[in-house]
Amino acid sequence: IPVDNFDLVIFGGTGDLARRKILPGLFRRFRAGQMPEDARVIAAARSEHDDASYRSEIEAAIKEFGGAESKDRKGLKAFLERLHYVAVDARGDGGWQQLKDLMRDGVVRAFYFSVAPGLFGDLAERLHTHGIADRDSRLVVEKPFGRDLKSARALNATLADHFNEDQIYRIDHYLGKETVQNLMAVRFANVLFEPLWNSHYVDHIQITVAETVGVGGRGSYYDKSGAMRDMVQNHLMQLLCLIAMEPPNQFEADAVRDEKLKVIRALQPIDSHHIVRGQYEASEKTASYREDVENPKSTTESFIALRATIANWRWAGVPFYLRTGKRLKARSSEINVVFKDLGHSIFEGDEARHRNVLTIRLQPNEGIDLQVTIKEPGPGGMRLIDVPLDMTFAQALGDEADDVTDAYERLIMDVIRGNQTLFMRGDEVEAAWAWTDPLIEGWEARHDVPKVYDTGSSGPEDSLMLMHRDGRRWRDIKG
Ligand code: BG6
Repeated sequence: IPVDNFDLVIFGGTGDLARRKILPGLFRRFRAGQMPEDARVIAAARSEHDDASYRSEIEAAIKEFGGAESKDRKGLKAFLERLHYVAVDARGDGGWQQLKDLMRDGVVRAFYFSVAPGLFGDLAERLHTHGIADRDSRLVVEKPFGRDLKSARALNATLADHFNEDQIYRIDHYLGKETVQNLMAVRFANVLFEPLWNSHYVDHIQITVAETVGVGGRGSYYDKSGAMRDMVQNHLMQLLCLIAMEPPNQFEADAVRDEKLKVIRALQPIDSHHIVRGQYEASEKTASYREDVENPKSTTESFIALRATIANWRWAGVPFYLRTGKRLKARSSEINVVFKDLGHSIFEGDEARHRNVLTIRLQPNEGIDLQVTIKEPGPGGMRLIDVPLDMTFAQALGDEADDVTDAYERLIMDVIRGNQTLFMRGDEVEAAWAWTDPLIEGWEARHDVPKVYDTGSSGPEDSLMLMHRDGRRWRDIKG
């Protein structure tokens, strides 16, 4: 179903994110018939382009990043005609009148700030003084949304000077991933799981987001951030919220976000021995973290594992182990809900020691898998084994699974629809920083030096110890 007609202005429309994600994503929605025929995308940036030269730049980008669909030459040509370019001066008056003249009345107006946060205030202000944005316009902003509570508050305040909260769409692209949304469907559309989803039945929860890539190319940004700011404060936090939150009374933006906020606020401070930071070493083919960021003394983490707890009725005493890192053995993001042992087993010895595990695989190979214990087939007596009740979406859904839309395109369509459910509210972002700030300050004050780990490993040894100490183990990182 096509969304309403729109003019989407992308500030930073020649940048990396626009070329890799936003425009290829919009092209796919255009081909799928979801973008109205005369919807328009207006890139606004500093460089001197005209429509023609901008279109040819984006044509090249879509051919590079747009996958198989970019072979549809006719479709691509039609899509490119939807693109326009205006050169604007974010800190001056140049270009704003041209932008205003281009915008149409009676269509959804959305502004995507794909630029450094330092420009948010300037852009927001000029959009208003030039009468381009109004009470119905929508604003999309990207991470990093601040680097601590103070800067996040300042950013929220800047945006609030010109836009109301219900106009602001803060993107966390993890919320646009298919399986992340499925998490809510699994929890709240099945009778099976919710009764067990608490400290009576759940032993612990593991959230792993493992990457094989290094930080090459983004070194200067990354070295100032590290895995905590780059991944945990946002992406892993969002996963944790969806796993841990109480059922919202309806699937509606504020109902969902209220429940997520309560989880973040209930997160406890973490002792230093429950946090392990790491930095990858060089391999035969790849450089070390310190080489990648060209900072031989860097103490920024490219890996972090931690044990979080949530002080509320549902989760009292249930640890949430989170880990994420670069240059690990496989690209694999999954959540494991590990259930408790049976209170009493009628089977003896080793046969009594089996556990149910619900695995939610975000990528690759999206799906859900429930480990259940059954009798090993054959005449060997009552021997028990664990087997997966495996629902790999690609198998279970066949062709429909091919329609797994990329996170960005889904989220941009939600902006046009005016649906904020999968976007972070300002108070959520601030609460997440309020939790991470003291942890970061703690290791800075201790002058903590990250442990090295081998490229292609599961992270530093100490991260395995984090679990072993509690008599638990990480699930293997499998691609
Ligand atoms: C980004 C981080 O937000 O997410 C990157 O800045 C990270 O460092 C990326 O690589 C991971 O996203 P995905 O979708 O590839 O898991």
